[in-house]
Amino acid sequence: MERTAIYPGSFDPVTNGHLDIIQRAAGLFDKIIVAILCNPTKKSLFSVEERVEMLEDNIKEFSNVEVDSARGLLVDYAKKRNACAILRGMRAVSDFEYEFQMALMNRKLNREIQTVFLMTGLRWIFTSSSIIKEAARFGGDIDDMVPPLVSEKLKKKMNLHSS
Ligand code: PNS
Repeated sequence: MERTAIYPGSFDPVTNGHLDIIQRAAGLFDKIIVAILCNPTKKSLFSVEERVEMLEDNIKEFSNVEVDSARGLLVDYAKKRNACAILRGMRAVSDFEYEFQMALMNRKLNREIQTVFLMTGLRWIFTSSSIIKEAARFGGDIDDMVPPLVSEKLKKKMNLHSS
C-alpha cells in the first residue's frame, strides 16, 4: 500500500524551513501532498495561485511530492486523497500547544489519520512565514530564509525592488 502524507499549511509564502521538512519527509513517505488550506485566523498576503506557483517552483527535484490546494476540513481532504498521515513541522516549544490542539482535534474528527511531527532543522527554528513577511515589509534581508523566487515576489509585493 502506498503511504501518502499530507503536509498542510498556509505557506504564505513557503520558506526554507518548509522545504527542509518536505525534503526530509519525501524520504520517509511514498508520496507527499503539500496542501494549501485556509487558516481562518490568518490574513494571507499571497493568493492561493501565487502560493502554489512558489511551492511548485521549489519541489521540482522531488518526484514523489505534489502541490495542491483545498477548502474545508483537513481530515476530509486527507481521506479524499487516501492519506494515512498529516505531516507538521515543529519549531520551538511555542508551537507545541497549537500543534497539540490541532492534532487532537484532527484525531477526534478522524481516528484513522495520524499526525506526524518532524522537528524543524536548527537553522530554521526561529523563522516563520509571518516573521519573514514582517522583516521584508521593513526592508530586512530575508534572502537566506526563503528560496529566490519567493524573495523576488516578496520584494515586489512589499514594493521593495532591490535595484
Ligand atoms: O501554516 P498554518 O497556518 O499553521 O496551517 C494551519 C492549517 C491550514 C493546516 C489549519 O488551519 C487547517 O488545517 N485548516 C483547515 C481547516 C481544519 O481542518 N482545521 C483543523 C481542525 S478544526
